[in-house]
Amino acid sequence: MTLHRNKKKKDEEEFRDIYTNPISERQLPKNELPEKISDPAAIRQLISDELFMDGNARQNLATFCTTYIEDEVRELMDLSIDKNMIDKDEYPQTAEIEQRCVNILANLWHSPEIKDSIGCSTTGSSEAAMLGGLALKWRWRKKREKEGKSTEKPNIVCGPVQICWHKFARYFDVEIREIPLKKDALGMEPDQLKQYCDENTIGVVVTLGSTYIGIYEPVEAIAKALDEIEEEKGISIPIHVDGASGAFIAPFIHRNLKWDFKIERVKSINASGHKFGMAPLGVGWVIWRNAIDLPEELIFNVDYLGGQMPTFALNFSRPAGQIISQYYKFLRLGREGYTAIHEDCAKTAQYLGNELKKIDILDILYDGHGGIPAVCYSLKDEKNSGFNLYDLSDRLRMHGWQIASYPLPSNRENQTVQRILIRHGVSRDMVFLLLRDLKKELEHLKNNPVANSSEKISFHH
Ligand SMILES: Cc1ncc(COP(=O)(O)O)c(C=O)c1O
Repeated sequence: MTLHRNKKKKDEEEFRDIYTNPISERQLPKNELPEKISDPAAIRQLISDELFMDGNARQNLATFCTTYIEDEVRELMDLSIDKNMIDKDEYPQTAEIEQRCVNILANLWHSPEIKDSIGCSTTGSSEAAMLGGLALKWRWRKKREKEGKSTEKPNIVCGPVQICWHKFARYFDVEIREIPLKKDALGMEPDQLKQYCDENTIGVVVTLGSTYIGIYEPVEAIAKALDEIEEEKGISIPIHVDGASGAFIAPFIHRNLKWDFKIERVKSINASGHKFGMAPLGVGWVIWRNAIDLPEELIFNVDYLGGQMPTFALNFSRPAGQIISQYYKFLRLGREGYTAIHEDCAKTAQYLGNELKKIDILDILYDGHGGIPAVCYSLKDEKNSGFNLYDLSDRLRMHGWQIASYPLPSNRENQTVQRILIRHGVSRDMVFLLLRDLKKELEHLKNNPVANSSEKISFHH
């Protein structure tokens, strides 16, 4: 088959409307590859039309991820669309840019010796968490083998963690000890650790910016509790900080908080560049305090400028654009820009928290102070409200808003909460409009109780 059409046919087509093109007069193929080649403009249009069925990303207040994208980022993404970041030999400048980002983050997170710390980009925090967890497992195993002790039952201890840690535990055969929430607590508390840690604990994961609520778990106090365990039992347990959101926020707006490599026990940190790092979707980071914290058996060497470059990743081929855009964001915003944007987001979240406090049927669990820019709340009396928060999510969806509703983690799973995330591009005006719609829909639900409340399924990042 040839891609060239004869001139007459081409002229005819130029006068046609895309919607009179034969391909748009029938359903698009859904299961089988079409036999024939098609007009690119028509196909592009029809696929774009299908995408209208998706929610509007800017109104998605359930996601932590970047939805406001500068034109310069689009241009850089376009420029690098054909670059594979793993080909370090072919794209040495991209490799160098990745290393610069690693250095910037190691510095930002107070690595004691930048030249000794090591890190890499990933597809997001999930891959970064797997790599962090694997390093903990390997280090623990090597130490146990040296001591002639069993390596059969590794465990990892954490508070309510994002699903990626459950995946890590299952995929890599590690028992996960997720500490249940104490009554009225919103995260793991230091005095709970003693009961869960033992000589088989490969590490404790502390979340800076809980997925469920938005608070920071207290890294410093948890490190102190682990110091006490070490003194008492002689076992030294490292900390991995899951800073998917918080590691890009705390360095700018919570500068007095001690959570990073300033704490000796913190051996590795992950963060999502595509969340509060403001890079486009598809990039995360993991940094180890010291090269010795990443066992060398986990490192593979790839060709690089005729030499070898160490890499550690679950993927091989990966687009370079996200890494380049992350570097753009670092240079474009600097400390000043990140601080200004996150401060604004935090203030908007706190404004929203204050406004929600005025709604008497809501109970505010997190009002945007001290953690990530977000709010989290439940119904004071769900049983007697005549509706639940899933119903409210459904009603808000009619206005285009996507708000996550879900149960709290173990020990408080009977409580349903709703979380609203405020990130770059969610303006005060948008929040004002959201509040207008939320109040209207709460009023509607109060006056029109729901006979069969919505199923407990909801989008939750
Ligand atoms: C605390 C935490 N860890 C890990 C992840 C997974 O991040 P990613 O979506 O970048 O893989 C998330 C996502 O929301 C998160 O909140």
